[in-house]
Amino acid sequence: MSAENLVSIREYTDEDFVSLTNLVAEFFTFHRRLNERGPLPPEEAATMIPQDMLQESSHILIAEEKQEKKVVGFCRIELHEGAYFLRELGVTENWRIRGVGTALLRAAEDYIKNAGKSNLYLSVVPRNIDAVRFFVRRGYDIINTLELRAETPKEKIQRKPLHFLGLQFRY
Ligand SMILES: CC(C)(COP(=O)(O)OP(=O)(O)OC[C@H]1O[C@@H](n2cnc3c(N)ncnc32)[C@H](O)[C@@H]1OP(=O)(O)O)[C@@H](O)C(=O)NCCC(=O)NCCS
Repeated sequence: MSAENLVSIREYTDEDFVSLTNLVAEFFTFHRRLNERGPLPPEEAATMIPQDMLQESSHILIAEEKQEKKVVGFCRIELHEGAYFLRELGVTENWRIRGVGTALLRAAEDYIKNAGKSNLYLSVVPRNIDAVRFFVRRGYDIINTLELRAETPKEKIQRKPLHFLGLQFRY
């Protein structure tokens, strides 16, 4: 069954706050685990949403499954210096690989097209190889910016080497 029959994509409303909190906690817990860190507690997600995600420059889309009207995914588009960025895209674990992520990504693309733009920029953690593959297969194969950082003194995580542009990186 295609995603259109299973879910509808709509705008976020205040009534989605609790569902969004759980999805945001799951999304950041997923990313923290990639860096061998503990989960993001839902109460921290609940603080993060009004502080960092419900800005005027942000637009949140919700994927709602049609039968029980349960919220199963979200994405956030942010307008920054005249360009649109896909800041988060998350589907709850037991709803993945059914087309919901693709439906959200396509809805984000429609949103920016309606706003008169054609470029949607996104960042993805290289350790998140499933997501890298997901985006590349959907046309996002131009490396636009490299986001780099220095190691912090407390980091113990084993990183893999990556040779690129004649330089050695770690990820
Ligand atoms: C990335 C993510 C949004 C994709 O959502 P989804 O609903 O599973 O996406 P779809 O069902 O539309 O497509 C999934 C594709 O990935 C493939 N896939 C295989 N293993 C997978 C896995 N472990 N996880 C995700 N996708 C996987 C599917 O087969 C499918 O392949 P396709 O390119 O041939 O269609 C979802 O996995 C997720 O929420 N991951 C955690 C958060 C994250 O990584 N977000 C993206 C970075 S911002």
